[in-house]
Amino acid sequence: MMRDSATLRRMELHGRQVALRPVAPADAPALAAILAEPSVARWWGTFGLARVEADLAGGHPDEEGFGILVDGVCVGYIQAVEETEPDFRHAGIDLFLATAVQGRGLGPDAIRTLATHLIDDRGHHRLTIDPAADNEAAIRAYTKVGFRPVGVMRAYQRMADGQWVDALLMDLLAEELVR
Ligand SMILES: CC(C)(COP(=O)(O)OP(=O)(O)OC[C@H]1O[C@@H](n2cnc3c(N)ncnc32)[C@H](O)[C@@H]1OP(=O)(O)O)[C@@H](O)C(=O)NCCC(=O)NCCS
Repeated sequence: MMRDSATLRRMELHGRQVALRPVAPADAPALAAILAEPSVARWWGTFGLARVEADLAGGHPDEEGFGILVDGVCVGYIQAVEETEPDFRHAGIDLFLATAVQGRGLGPDAIRTLATHLIDDRGHHRLTIDPAADNEAAIRAYTKVGFRPVGVMRAYQRMADGQWVDALLMDLLAEELVR
């Protein structure tokens, strides 16, 4: 069923292990603390509280951001950024989890949950995700959900040390999602 976008942006989504709750300004301190953890900052770069409030909890029109909750506690963040140009319509996904809960399948569960929403509720036929080319944990996690490698985007992302590094573009067509 297609729902209007205002309703969709307030929806809490439920996976097997995680719930995704639309991010709120009150989540910013918890997300800033997670982003400061070295295993997250390595890939996401430097975020202070002000940048989290502006970039992640700020309510951009083409972005849907969710806190990843386990037993009601915010342990991470996942977002979808929609390309709305009709002939190129798709959504990109990005996420991070706190160090303490990585490696337990919560990332694939959160991605599967958001991807199901984007395909079933928002009508997307194609999703993308673009980990750093050497982020092996992320590439394994995304492969489990059905994303496939498309190609290497050279010098795509600037890391905290100022170096531009390659990223792997992965995409998934709606029928490929491992539900
Ligand atoms: C990338 C990420 C979202 C994956 O979610 P996840 O829930 O950890 O994924 P999984 O549990 O499926 O783990 C994926 C693989 O990486 C391994 N892994 C994940 N975290 C790990 C860690 N901290 N140390 C060692 N191995 C780890 C797992 O063992 C698993 O390997 P397997 O497939 O051989 O079993 C999550 O680890 C994360 O947020 N990492 C830090 C930030 C980041 O890299 N974000 C993505 C930027 S594109």
